[in-house]
Amino acid sequence: MMVPRSLAGLLAVATLALARTPAGFRPASNVDLIVEYNGVTPLNGVVVARNTTIPQPRIGTLARLTGTSYAVLMIDLDIPTNTPPATNTLLHWMQTGLTPATTATRINTASGTLSVFLLENSTNTAPILGYFGPNPPARTPLSHRYTQILVDTSDIDPEDITVLRTAAATIVGFNALTVLTAADLEDEVVAGNSFNVTNAGPVNDTATGGGGGSTTSTTSGSPTSSPTGGSFTTARDFKVVNIGMRN
Ligand SMILES: *[C@@H]1O[C@H](CO)[C@@H](O)[C@H](O)[C@H]1NC(C)=O
Ligand SMILES: *[C@@H]1O[C@H](CO)[C@@H](O)[C@H](O)[C@H]1NC(C)=O
Ligand SMILES: *[C@@H]1O[C@H](CO)[C@@H](O)[C@H](O)[C@H]1NC(C)=O
Ligand SMILES: *[C@@H]1O[C@H](CO)[C@@H](O)[C@H](O)[C@H]1NC(C)=O
Repeated sequence: MMVPRSLAGLLAVATLALARTPAGFRPASNVDLIVEYNGVTPLNGVVVARNTTIPQPRIGTLARLTGTSYAVLMIDLDIPTNTPPATNTLLHWMQTGLTPATTATRINTASGTLSVFLLENSTNTAPILGYFGPNPPARTPLSHRYTQILVDTSDIDPEDITVLRTAAATIVGFNALTVLTAADLEDEVVAGNSFNVTNAGPVNDTATGGGGGSTTSTTSGSPTSSPTGGSFTTARDFKVVNIGMRN
C-alpha cells in the first residue's frame, strides 16, 4: 500500500515517542526530550559518532511546556572504573534557568522534520556545569549511555539551587535521584532522552586514563593539577585530563 509522503513523516515522528531515559534510570521519563547537534538528533538509545556530540546541543520538546524555568542535566551512566566491569556515573552538563519557546522551531532529522519547542537560555544564566561532550575511552565498557533529563524548576527555592550547585561540584558518581530528591525535584523530570557513544576499541583496561602524569589545562586561567587515574572528583580535575582520555 502506498503511504502518502506526509503520512510517512507523521509515522516517523510517532516512533520518536520511544525516546526516554534508559531502563533502570531514575527519575525516569517516557516523554521525548529532543536533543539536536547541528541537524543530528540522537534519540532513543541510538549510537552516535563522538565528533557529532562535541558542541553543546539544542534541546526541546514536542509539546509546548508551560513552566517558567527548566534545567537540563546530562549524565554518562557507564564510565569505567579500576575494577571492571564495575562502572560509575559522570555528570556532563547542568544548566538551569532555561525557558520554553512559545513558538515551535522546525528541526531536520534523519526521519523527517520535527516541530520542536526549544528550551532557551533567554536570561543568559551561567551553567552550573558547562556542557562537555562524550569521550568514552578504550576501556570496559566501550559503549556508554548518555542520558539527558529536563527538570521543571519553576517552583525551585534558592536553597535548592545551592543543593544542585554543591552536588555538581563532584561529577564522578553523580546520582540523579539522590541529588534531585535533595533539591525537592525528584517528581519534576518532564522529559528525557538517551544515546550511546562507542569507542572503537580494542579494550585496554590496564590504561587508567591519568594521562601518564601529563596534564593539559583546558580552562583558561585555572590552575592545573595532576590527578591520578580513577580519582577525578571535580569538574576542573576532569576537564584537565579529559583530552582523549575518558568519557
Ligand atoms: C565525524 O566522524 C565521522 C567518521 O569518522 C566522519 O565521517 C564525519 O565527517 C565526522 N564529522 C565531523 C563533523 O567531523
Ligand atoms: C547560557 O548563557 C550562559 C552565559 O552567557 C552561557 O555560558 C551558557 O552556555 C548558555 N547556556 C545555554 C544552554 O545556551
Ligand atoms: C549502550 O551502552 C550500554 C552500556 O555499555 C550497552 O549495554 C548497550 O548495549 C549500548 N547500546 C547500543 C545500541 O550499543
Ligand atoms: C594498555 O595501556 C597501558 C597503559 O597505558 C600500556 O602500557 C599498554 O601498552 C597498553 N596495552 C595495549 C595492548 O595497548
